[in-house]
Amino acid sequence: MNPSAAATDGTSKTSTSKTSTANTGTANTDTAINSIATSGGLDAGHPLMDGRTADSPLITAYRGGKPSRRPVWFMRQAGRSLPEYLKARQGVAMLDSCLRPELASEITLQPVRRHDVDAAIFFSDIVIPLKLAGVGVDIVPGVGPVLEKPVRTAEDVAALPQLTWEALEPIREAVRLTVAELGNTPLIGFAGAPFTLAAYMVEGKPSRDHLGPRTMMHADPETWAALANWAADASGLFLRAQLEAGASAGQLFDSWAGSLGLADYERFVAPASSRALDHVRHLGAPLVHFGTGTSELLVAMRGVGVDVVGVDYRLPLDEANRRLGGTVPLQGNIDPALLSAPWEVLEAHVREVIAAGAAAPGHVLNLGHGVPPETDPAVLTRVVELIHSISPE
Ligand code: CP3
Repeated sequence: MNPSAAATDGTSKTSTSKTSTANTGTANTDTAINSIATSGGLDAGHPLMDGRTADSPLITAYRGGKPSRRPVWFMRQAGRSLPEYLKARQGVAMLDSCLRPELASEITLQPVRRHDVDAAIFFSDIVIPLKLAGVGVDIVPGVGPVLEKPVRTAEDVAALPQLTWEALEPIREAVRLTVAELGNTPLIGFAGAPFTLAAYMVEGKPSRDHLGPRTMMHADPETWAALANWAADASGLFLRAQLEAGASAGQLFDSWAGSLGLADYERFVAPASSRALDHVRHLGAPLVHFGTGTSELLVAMRGVGVDVVGVDYRLPLDEANRRLGGTVPLQGNIDPALLSAPWEVLEAHVREVIAAGAAAPGHVLNLGHGVPPETDPAVLTRVVELIHSISPE
């Protein structure tokens, strides 16, 4: 049975599936970015196929089954909250660390060893596909992604270099090293959704309101579509590399989708997000879609064809479940702000999140956004212990 099959009968048919069969999805030695695989699957030796992760609590909950314990992982569980991360990263720039397979793998494994979480999230960044394509981009500490040259005109978009399958080899190698260590714990692969990526590309840096891309989609819809499709293919290929090399699930991060109204989201963004996922649907791994400020977009985000919806901290999970018609496993949504509250306050909140999530056909505990860097890691470990101590009924 194909676990993604349900995804394709989502509420809105926004898919822009390409009919290209330029590659078979098997050898992948010369896959160009614009060829979307439509056949082939994961190898028999893949962790999801050889018995290692298919019955894990995470994958079971993602597929709407009954997990043996309550699954939990944290967005940004690898990173500055961990002293071992700061030590490993010493003297290595962020994006360089993502492209050194041993280092990226080690950083991915750190929070699994420390917290006993139910999944590893691959240590990388949403702008890595840009970097590997040859786009001038860096991550400035304390700021975020900054481009050498913003992408604002039709000429800028036409001049974007194409990401190749070969360029993704350091990613595949890091994933292979990681899953060799993870045993039965699934690795989650991820990619940035086209809007969030394009938001950085048009602005050239982080912004609050994302005026640049929101202007472009109305003022120059053709250029916007070309940019969104470029980003969709880059992200889709990045995610496919992780899944084929050993990741057991994939998460599309549309962190900044919340700056869009529903009409703009459906018209200018959902088709590109669907296109990104078209690169990996045939692999059959569970797919998760997450954004922040997306309470009004949840149904449309599900509609791009995913198995699980990630909910930010603003909307209680019972209400999210109601909006989604009670049909989709949910992920979330402990408020990261409460990680610094007294334990009793945090514990009561975690129990509330669990109670609200019980309404959904599946629930994977997570935060409503990433771990704040100043978080005491001992608190995260304690939250995991608490969640695992509550029977999954
Ligand atoms: O545990 C994990 O989640 C690991 C992997 C991961 C990172 N970035 C590592 C990272 C993931 C899944 C991302 C995705 C990502 N990157 C998103 C989507 C998720 C989200 O948080 O909404 C976005 C928007 C980015 C872009 C980005 N990269 C930002 C905004 C920043 C923070 C800049 C800063 O210094 O404040 C980064 C850098 C980054 N990516 C760090 C990490 C661990 C911090 C780098 C450091 O340690 O200096």
